[in-house]
Amino acid sequence: MTDAKDSDSAVIEVTAYAPEQGRWYCDHLERGKILFFRGMPFELPDSAIKFLLGHGQSASTLHKNISYRPANDVVKGSDLKGADRDHLQAVMKTFSREVTAFITQFLPPYGGKMKLDYASFRPEQEAGRKLSLHKRNDLLHVDAFPTRPTKGARILRVFLNIHPSMSRIWKVGPPFHEFFPRLARKQKINPPARQPVIAAVSAFARQLGLPMAARSRYDEFMLYLHNWLKENTEFQKDPASRQIEFPSGSCWMVYTDGIPHAVLSGQFALEQTFIVPTNALVSPEVAPVRVLEETTGLRMAS
Ligand SMILES: [Fe+2]
Repeated sequence: MTDAKDSDSAVIEVTAYAPEQGRWYCDHLERGKILFFRGMPFELPDSAIKFLLGHGQSASTLHKNISYRPANDVVKGSDLKGADRDHLQAVMKTFSREVTAFITQFLPPYGGKMKLDYASFRPEQEAGRKLSLHKRNDLLHVDAFPTRPTKGARILRVFLNIHPSMSRIWKVGPPFHEFFPRLARKQKINPPARQPVIAAVSAFARQLGLPMAARSRYDEFMLYLHNWLKENTEFQKDPASRQIEFPSGSCWMVYTDGIPHAVLSGQFALEQTFIVPTNALVSPEVAPVRVLEETTGLRMAS
């Protein structure tokens, strides 16, 4: 196993940073590196972490991933009520705000262009979770959002392991621009044909003001690939994949659409997602949307 504190080809430990390094960090993130911080690079009060640990342990109260939607200041997936719910919402808001302030100054090329997406609190022990195959976190996959299509924009996620002592263990494979063309040469990866009737129905629903997500070919391909990778036992045994340990209190950021990843174990993580449009990327040629277009010859982002 690779401890994330030791630099290796998948992980870059960040010990000091200045705005002029932002472009270099963006480039390495986009090429599939994980940027790792031994400690939290932003402020989150001890009282906030204690609250999350205290409430997360009562599985009857909080038993799923809790999501926080910064745009509406709303928490979903928690059974907490009253003052406890307000407290949870306030803690998630603080976390989201602190991470966003940090990312804005850490990665200046994305400033003003990236979109703040959901945050989450993951209180469950990941090892041994009983989930259906496509929902399992312990199988290598790339991220794709069924209800929030990105149309080629990238999914940047910042994680924080708030467990007081336990590491979070990931497995990761080679980045998208390396593994996908290789895989596509060996295997037939063909998403089902786009269905014009479904597209027309969802377009009509949107005209009526109903919240139906408009997926591009890219989104359909990435959702298909997400499931395909989890189903493929050969890919899951890829000898190029390696385990990485994120110790208690550490923080890391990664493009989860661009590196196959699996969470093998760990409990109590916070996460904030950012959607980075193609025109903000410093190396758009390695973005999954470009790699898919080149490999398949199809236009993807429409
Ligand atoms: Fe994931």
